[in-house]
Amino acid sequence: MSPSVLITGASTGIGAACARALDGEGFRVYAGVRRAADGEALRQDASPRLTPLLLDVTDAASIAEAAGRLRSETGVFLAGLVNNAGIAVAGPLEFVSPERLRQQFEVNVVGVLAVTQALLPLLRTGPGRIVNISSVSGRLASPFVGPYCASKFALEALSDSLRVELNPWRIPVSVVEPGVINTPIWQKSLAANASIMDDMPAESQALYGREVAAMQGFARSARGLEPLAVARVVVRALTDTRPKTRYVVGTDARLGVLLSRLPDRLRDWLLLNRLRQLRK
Ligand SMILES: NC(=O)c1ccc[n+]([C@@H]2O[C@H](COP(=O)([O-])OP(=O)(O)OC[C@H]3O[C@@H](n4cnc5c(N)ncnc54)[C@H](OP(=O)(O)O)[C@@H]3O)[C@@H](O)[C@H]2O)c1
Repeated sequence: MSPSVLITGASTGIGAACARALDGEGFRVYAGVRRAADGEALRQDASPRLTPLLLDVTDAASIAEAAGRLRSETGVFLAGLVNNAGIAVAGPLEFVSPERLRQQFEVNVVGVLAVTQALLPLLRTGPGRIVNISSVSGRLASPFVGPYCASKFALEALSDSLRVELNPWRIPVSVVEPGVINTPIWQKSLAANASIMDDMPAESQALYGREVAAMQGFARSARGLEPLAVARVVVRALTDTRPKTRYVVGTDARLGVLLSRLPDRLRDWLLLNRLRQLRK
């Protein structure tokens, strides 16, 4: 029987690419989506093994229902869990509302742990593997994407703690750290954050308007690797004989990791220079 994997947030971008790539590798893919239509779209060019699963990672009932369905369908074994669902909240930290910060953490951090907790009994039997889609932003915190970076730093910490805690059952926990990838997350973030900027007090425009416009310009023109590049790495994390704890994807991500190791003041100086360049 094909090994089963669950991918959260498989409607678009990296999650959809992982679903297709793992399906192509012969896995039985459970593709977590929030709308049935997204699941149907995925099934169009996939094998009959691919099964959409309605799953909102911020909804306890939805997680319980998905876990129940997996328990009944895969027997007692899940070969992999890919925690991919994510959103990006941006903006000057001085004006990010606690509500938006909570929303960021609900999806990117709390949701990951809630899904993992629900599925650990199924992962323990194999044992299966856990792959968390983090980001270079989990290693290097950039200005004006503070909420997103904070969520990915938290995800890195959760993954490190979990890896050691799950060692007795030999459940590997890997983190995948992509740089810029061409997915809808950039447009979604721009749309969501534009309305947030509109709701911010007028003084925020006066204080941070130029920097925010520069960062929005960067997001608008961001061109990175295709999602398949990340999907290939996820396949490796699930199949390598000895999975790595961290997989960095892309030259920009590797550069980011190098930057993160510089002394704080030097790193700040480089980031400020970059911001100045973007503002021109
Ligand atoms: N793109 C990049 O440059 C980049 C770089 C590094 C890391 N990443 C990470 O890669 C992961 C995937 O992002 P992406 O770039 O592929 O963006 P994307 O195309 O926007 O995909 C995000 C996925 O998460 C889902 N999602 C959002 N909120 C959810 C919730 N509450 N419950 C379940 N699913 C939810 C979305 O579903 P809906 O369609 O229903 O909203 C979508 O399927 C994220 O964790 C992101 O942080 C992306």
